[in-house]
Amino acid sequence: MIYLDNAATSWPKPPGVAQAMADFLEEAGGNPGRSGHRLSIEAGRIVYDARERIAELFNLSDPLRVIFTLNATHAINLALQGLLVAGDRIVTTAVEHNAVMRPLRSLEARGVEVSVMQCEPDGSLSLDQAGRSIRPGTKLVVATHANNVTGTLLPITAIAEMAHAAGASLLVDAAQTAGVFPIDIQRMGIDLLAFTGHKGLMGPPGTGGLILGERLNPAILQPLMRGGTGSRSEFELQPDDLPDKFEAGTPNSVGIAGLGASVAFVVDRGVEAIRAHEVGLTRALLRGLADLPTVRVYGPTNPMDRTAVVSFVAPGLRVSEVGLRLDEQFDVLCRVGLHCAPATHRTLGTFPEGTVRLAPGVFTEPSDIAHTLASIRAIVEES
Ligand SMILES: Cc1ncc(COP(=O)(O)O)c(C=O)c1O
Repeated sequence: MIYLDNAATSWPKPPGVAQAMADFLEEAGGNPGRSGHRLSIEAGRIVYDARERIAELFNLSDPLRVIFTLNATHAINLALQGLLVAGDRIVTTAVEHNAVMRPLRSLEARGVEVSVMQCEPDGSLSLDQAGRSIRPGTKLVVATHANNVTGTLLPITAIAEMAHAAGASLLVDAAQTAGVFPIDIQRMGIDLLAFTGHKGLMGPPGTGGLILGERLNPAILQPLMRGGTGSRSEFELQPDDLPDKFEAGTPNSVGIAGLGASVAFVVDRGVEAIRAHEVGLTRALLRGLADLPTVRVYGPTNPMDRTAVVSFVAPGLRVSEVGLRLDEQFDVLCRVGLHCAPATHRTLGTFPEGTVRLAPGVFTEPSDIAHTLASIRAIVEES
């Protein structure tokens, strides 16, 4: 079986992830930060270790600014709902996932002004367009780091400079890049970074986080939920301490234990090495698909301008049929349709049918790509 759906969730997980989760349940099952006994202390240590590894990965000096959430969606909602009030102006792009667009449309209904920057047909964003939209009076700019349909990378460092010059903060949706593309939040000028644990970071589902960059004053961000934190139990008001202010309730510590192990794997292998491996696979996919004259591929032609996500359509064939035949006849697992990103498909011109999306990962081999290309050729030639 060839798994090419790593943009939805990575599989298989690295060695050591399942074991770390089993070990947590069997040997450290206490509630972190709650009780003073050894199992609680051990659980707290494991959660803190994961926080520290994530801080290091993104070049954040204070691990307490890593807020654990259930996924990127939760992190994005925390940032948007915690920062924005009626009358605020926010700027976003026309290639955002629904994890950004749906909370924004809901905030728009409550009086937040939402301005959407149009993108090019390959999913890229021109700096002229960004310069016209990001103007003084903007509170927040929200941009995906890489689009989840075409893999197109957006110019985050330049967007951060424009946002800061206009007096705005920048929230980056790194769901498609964390773990597979180098991210240095200080150098790139990112104020808030939402990541998910189960894609490029290769951890279990139910993990993710919001990183509060060092320029961001946590006092301006309201928590999404309030409740027990194990700290300052004498107060009925939510404490202001980090990360407790934003982490009410018992965390997914078993998932975080798995995430700590998967991040250790990513660091050990090296994000640059992972990126180089995925650029090679993407190049092979783009070249092979270009040899099929009827197939239309979306996104930038240079693999350096995108992550390892390649979308295509084959005229005359429904995307659902291509996906089904790849799965049933050729043992290739991918995702077809709109990928929770209708705005992107409107930009690409593939709405409402969507595309077939191939997303190789760390464990994909060049021979898997060769088999996939031969399978697509067979499907297209038979039709
Ligand atoms: C660009 C992008 N943003 C956000 C998300 C949401 O991630 P999660 O489902 O982990 O919340 C995804 C997942 O598909 C994504 O691709």
